[in-house]
Amino acid sequence: MSKVYKVAVIVGSLRKASINRKLALALAELAPPSLQLQIVEIGELPLYSEDIDVSPAPAAYTRFRDEVKSADALLFVTPEYNRSIPAPMKNAIDVGSRPYGQSAFSGKPGAVLSASPGAVGGFGANHHLRQCLVFLDVPVLQQPEAYLGGAGNFFDDSGKPNDGIKGFLQKFIEAYAAWVERVAG
Ligand code: FNR
Repeated sequence: MSKVYKVAVIVGSLRKASINRKLALALAELAPPSLQLQIVEIGELPLYSEDIDVSPAPAAYTRFRDEVKSADALLFVTPEYNRSIPAPMKNAIDVGSRPYGQSAFSGKPGAVLSASPGAVGGFGANHHLRQCLVFLDVPVLQQPEAYLGGAGNFFDDSGKPNDGIKGFLQKFIEAYAAWVERVAG
């Protein structure tokens, strides 16, 4: 039987009705059988401080680190706040990156998708996140780039994606599956 890769999905919005969360869930549905996508929650992580990250670390830190470590691959789905990543996303990255030398992210294949109701599609957030991922040694899928503008129209009232966005997500998740296989296979 061919390998199934576990993918830790980190969503940058904590909003219940988040478009980015809907996109993450849609990607989980469209993913090929080689990928198993699971959202790793970040809303309960205390703001990172070295003062509290001592032994024993906060339970929420340990839970997050363990969930990321147990995954084979990473998928970041995020809105843009003030042309950068939302604070909860940066906090999750900081938590997962420590203790020094024991980053939960290191070497795992990744991808970044950003979405916004605005026209620019979260380009600024997407690339700020990529900057962090260089330091964290996460090899990131390059193509297709995913700056999804006009995201307010992606889903109908029942949460169903329209055909246009569904087609793009299908292409994206297939390219990502090939990337995961190439890096982690
Ligand atoms: C935003 N929004 C936003 N949009 C954008 O395209 N570029 C930006 O820089 C910002 N900045 C920003 C800051 C803050 C504090 C908020 C609350 C919002 C709008 C944002 O894209 C919109 O609220 C999305 O719907 C958020 O994503 P979710 O929660 O729907 O996934």
